[in-house]
Amino acid sequence: MKIPFSSIEDCFTLPNGVRIPCVGYGTWQTPVGGTARRCVAAAVNAGYVHIDTAFIYGNEQEVGQGVRDAGRNRGELFITSKHWVTERGYEKTIAAAELSLKNLGMDYMDLYLIHWPCVAKVSENWAEINADTWRAFERLYADGKVRAIGVSNFDVASLERLIADSSVKPMVNQLEFHPGWTQPENIDFTHAQGLVAQAWSPLGSGAVLKDKRLEEIAAKYGVSVARLCVRYALEKGVLPLPKSTDPDRMRSNADVFGFELSEEDTAAIDAMPVLGYSGFAPQDAPADAIA
Ligand code: A2P
Repeated sequence: MKIPFSSIEDCFTLPNGVRIPCVGYGTWQTPVGGTARRCVAAAVNAGYVHIDTAFIYGNEQEVGQGVRDAGRNRGELFITSKHWVTERGYEKTIAAAELSLKNLGMDYMDLYLIHWPCVAKVSENWAEINADTWRAFERLYADGKVRAIGVSNFDVASLERLIADSSVKPMVNQLEFHPGWTQPENIDFTHAQGLVAQAWSPLGSGAVLKDKRLEEIAAKYGVSVARLCVRYALEKGVLPLPKSTDPDRMRSNADVFGFELSEEDTAAIDAMPVLGYSGFAPQDAPADAIA
């Protein structure tokens, strides 16, 4: 189907009017020691203006360095980071955001996300803990340290409760999403609440790329399975964050505006059995989850 974008610089609009480029470059599992820095610089040079990282990835400093190496103006870029589970609560969250900003070498983030919800398995006070963390997010937003705030890996129950407890409604929910793991209930609720849904591991961390069914569908359009996955996310209204360490693949993964999936092929992908699932489900949000 048609989508309202013709390049990766085209944007979704968040509920507060902030524009967020429709495909981002993911950095989960991109190692430090120079790789993350080189990859992020290469991604910006390949045309990505939206970069997604997290404190727990350990690569915020290199993400900041890579962005600066690429030499684009800060204002042309959209940078997201995420708050880690060990830093829950008001005071710790404020300090965690300051540390992420210091690591990035930036004076604001475009988007800051609660990486994982606190859930009943972790604490019986899960809802209060999430609400306390969120109060700090609202403070950071009011102070201009972050241009937008949201969550990641929130299922319907966690998101519904946080919305009820919030003054500023979350603007984004980032979930694992790819053929073979599309979380329709969580994505639909995210959309119904007016949030932008983002896809982490839109290529199933590479695990879906050799699937015969997807190869057959991709062949009809003369594209790679990776391009099919990125296009599929966009057609489902989900903002994909693909990653690659290879500049040619980075470019190719962003080349998704010249074909449209048929209803039949979309339905076939929607109906695929579980494939490439990471094992990190929102409802069991492990205290030490890393995605
Ligand atoms: P590589 O870095 O060697 O390109 P996800 O974005 O779902 O997390 O998936 C990332 C994985 O998919 C990485 O292992 C990456 O490996 C691989 N990958 C990304 N783009 C492509 C592509 N176009 N073709 C093949 N593998 C790809």
